[in-house]
Amino acid sequence: MSDILTLTAPPDGFHENPYPFYARLREEAPVCAQPDGSFILSRYADLDMVYRDTDTFISDKKAVFGPKYGVDSPLYEHHTNSLVFNDPPLHTRVRKVMVGAMNPRALAQMEPGLVTLIDSLLDEMADQAEVELIEAFAGAIPIEVIGNLLGIPRDERDPLRDWSLAILGALEPALNDEQLSTGHQAVTDFKAFLRHIIEDRRAHPGDPETDVLTRLMQTTGDHLTEVELYQNCIFILNAGHETTTNLIGNAIALLDQHPAKRAELLANPELITTAVDEFLRLESPNQFGNRLTTRDITLHGVTIPAGTDLHLCMGGANRDPRQFDSPDEMQLDRRPNKHLAFAGGAHTCVGLTLARMEGRIAVGRFLQRYPNYHLTPGAQRGGRIRFRGYARLPATLT
Ligand code: HEM
Repeated sequence: MSDILTLTAPPDGFHENPYPFYARLREEAPVCAQPDGSFILSRYADLDMVYRDTDTFISDKKAVFGPKYGVDSPLYEHHTNSLVFNDPPLHTRVRKVMVGAMNPRALAQMEPGLVTLIDSLLDEMADQAEVELIEAFAGAIPIEVIGNLLGIPRDERDPLRDWSLAILGALEPALNDEQLSTGHQAVTDFKAFLRHIIEDRRAHPGDPETDVLTRLMQTTGDHLTEVELYQNCIFILNAGHETTTNLIGNAIALLDQHPAKRAELLANPELITTAVDEFLRLESPNQFGNRLTTRDITLHGVTIPAGTDLHLCMGGANRDPRQFDSPDEMQLDRRPNKHLAFAGGAHTCVGLTLARMEGRIAVGRFLQRYPNYHLTPGAQRGGRIRFRGYARLPATLT
């Protein structure tokens, strides 16, 4: 067994800079055994193959989540009913509804409101000597966007961010008792919160073209059960929140670390579209995904038995030199850039166009408005393995 990376006990320095560890995994242990019998895969071609082969690599994680959370627990109910941890038929039913609601017309309708929201957040920061950018900016945007998507009243959105962090945090490879109980409580509180929203929407349906909740409730034929409805509402809030916050926060940090790239983007604002994908590739908000094998397979000489949990290291695959020229270098106009930050295959992120739009408008307008911003001491990483981003990112703006 290689000792390069054990996910339940990452080595010193890993959170700060995981990329040298990923590079070693790709070269020395592309199928890296973990003490619990799971494996890490880190090469681009291997992840791409796994995403495409949904017969051999499934998303259902009941076998893993049962022992982890307890089968009667709120976290088990949540994660095992979310579309991302399911295969057909539940996955197909829910995904169809969500994809339909993210249609180009619905997204185009969202754009002016998003610009207004972002500009108002930028205005609010103007007079402050120092701003904490996660709370004041990067974290505030996705909550509003997804709150609008599901029609959650604006004055009721405050608790969403903490619930979402607690529920996704419970996906970390190693959990302490406090993280577990905070995660369970967050699911319970979130469900109670959704009850009146769902009842209200039943009485007053929204526009099914654009309102995801109305769509989920009106799905004809293959109706969602009540549990599936609640848990997938929670999932969509979570899926689009921390990931997008991290995209925006990571991009602002990257541009601070690369002044020449910042100048290049300021001089050529049209590069923001390809730049957002380069930020996603270099500092992928979601660093690890998962699949379970349904049969024995042999990869790079290692036999992986049926029923094995695989950790798919997107953060490593996205810097694989077999796929990307100069993979550690930031190229704002990188093309092609077929990164796996949104995964691939049947479970490719449903919100990728929305996320790119949020990133483009937020980072682009932030930079134009505050071209001389500087991060100040006190940046704090999220400290997660699966999700890469900052918990705090203090900065001065002028
Ligand atoms: C930068 C932001 C985002 C990143 C990096 C991201 C990343 C991902 C990844 C990697 C997956 C696949 C997980 C897997 O199969 O292992 C995924 C799935 C998903 N994402 Fe995103 N996401 C982002 C934003 C969003 C947004 C804004 C929404 C919706 C509002 C969203 C909704 C979803 C949904 C519904 C799925 C499940 C798809 C399925 O299982 O078929 N995501 N996302």
